[in-house]
Amino acid sequence: MINRAKEIGDIIKKSKEVHIVSHIDADGITAGSIAYQTVKRLGKEPSIDFVKQLDEAIIERLKNENHALVWFTDLGSNISAQYPEINKIITDHHSCPEGSNKSYHLNPHLFNIDGGFEISGAGTTYLVSKTLNKENIDLSPLAIIGACGDLQDRRLGKLTGYNQEILKDGESSGHVKSKIDIRYFGRETRSIPKLLQYANNPILPGLSGREQACISFLQELGIRVQDGDNWRRWIDLNKSERMLIVSNIAQLLLTKGFGHTITKRILGEVYILEKEEEGTEVHEAKEFATLLNSTARYGQFDVGLQVCLGNRDKYLDEARNLLLGHRANLVEGLQFAKEEGIQKRKYIQFFHAGTGIRDTIVGIVTNMLLNSEEVSSDIPLVGFADKGDGEIKVSARGTQQLVSKGLNLSKAMKKAANELNGVGGGHNIAAGATIPKGKEEEFLEILESEIKSQLT
Ligand code: C5P
Ligand code: C5P
Ligand code: ZN
Repeated sequence: MINRAKEIGDIIKKSKEVHIVSHIDADGITAGSIAYQTVKRLGKEPSIDFVKQLDEAIIERLKNENHALVWFTDLGSNISAQYPEINKIITDHHSCPEGSNKSYHLNPHLFNIDGGFEISGAGTTYLVSKTLNKENIDLSPLAIIGACGDLQDRRLGKLTGYNQEILKDGESSGHVKSKIDIRYFGRETRSIPKLLQYANNPILPGLSGREQACISFLQELGIRVQDGDNWRRWIDLNKSERMLIVSNIAQLLLTKGFGHTITKRILGEVYILEKEEEGTEVHEAKEFATLLNSTARYGQFDVGLQVCLGNRDKYLDEARNLLLGHRANLVEGLQFAKEEGIQKRKYIQFFHAGTGIRDTIVGIVTNMLLNSEEVSSDIPLVGFADKGDGEIKVSARGTQQLVSKGLNLSKAMKKAANELNGVGGGHNIAAGATIPKGKEEEFLEILESEIKSQLT
């Protein structure tokens, strides 16, 4: 992989102009930002675009724009062997079709490494960046944020594989510190009751979804929940208060029959960005990733890009505003999907949000639902959203357990979409597709039969 990264670095050095195309999620924004900074530091002026997926319209546009070099980050693996008229390099981590092993394509799958959790799009982009300039080691935090944005730390409660190598760069250069702590979202910015209320994976029986119950739970432990008018956050607690809460949550889970393996998931590695201000969204990798997800998914990619490039004041404020909207959309989206109802078939379950959930966040909602109390996680969950242009966005999510039984959502979604003139792909645990409107029922038929054969 390092050799391939060097070869790609050489192509960049030799090119007089570079246009970057990246994906709209946190991993895509961090990947694009690393590429952008890398090209800039070579003394060239890059241009950059963020897209939902590489479809025909975008390919056509790129052909017409006639760039000296197009750098695809966090996407592109599915077209690596196509469109020779586009002079390209690709740093991606999505599953790739036969014939993708090209000298200009860096992808863990080409080297028998699992792109689902060992390295992200930002990570592969960082590998290239590092071969060009040792100083680019200061971009390692962005690669950690990208990996966390893609939930690559979820399986083991910490980053592994190449991600761990990147983490070492972040630590040795004083940019990142990993520590063992509670893994629930919002250590830096949420009040402690809210952190517990929104806890998932594992959910906290009796507490998840119930704010007052969370406040009482903390008060019974003798934890002060407020300092004057201010709610205390996880980072405001002292060590013994944190340990008291963790041990009581563990006990709660164990008495409710969750077992040790699941209970242990409450603790794991969290990644602190040491150069950032404590108590802000940019001080911890998962919160940073969520902040980024609030930008490009709503068309505001410049905000995400600028925050990643270190331009803070105005852009951080804008990102925070977008975050408020994003949170409200997720809450509403979850509610909406629950009201529509999850329909169960034998090997898959699904909901159709129509135009009730944006196509760019239906994947996040699907993921959250599969991890909620109300939805069983013994079969994959599929979410449909109407894009409003005659096309339907499909998102599918599975679990590690299903993957170990043979589930490969990337393969299944790609197959079902292709049969209906759509496109699809992704990872074994999480995949997406776009299909023509009206084909949902047929799509489910094909998808279910493929998943059935994977699982039996
Ligand atoms: O496009 P990209 O590869 O960046 O996105 C990865 C997707 O896979 C994310 O939506 C992430 O939430 C999902 N994922 C997941 N569970 C995992 C790993 C990734 O749902 N264990
Ligand atoms: O959009 P969603 O979050 O559901 O995507 C899940 C995963 O599938 C992501 O890694 C995404 O990049 C990938 N995907 C893809 N091709 C599509 C749609 C999604 O590779 N057409
Ligand atoms: Zn990614």
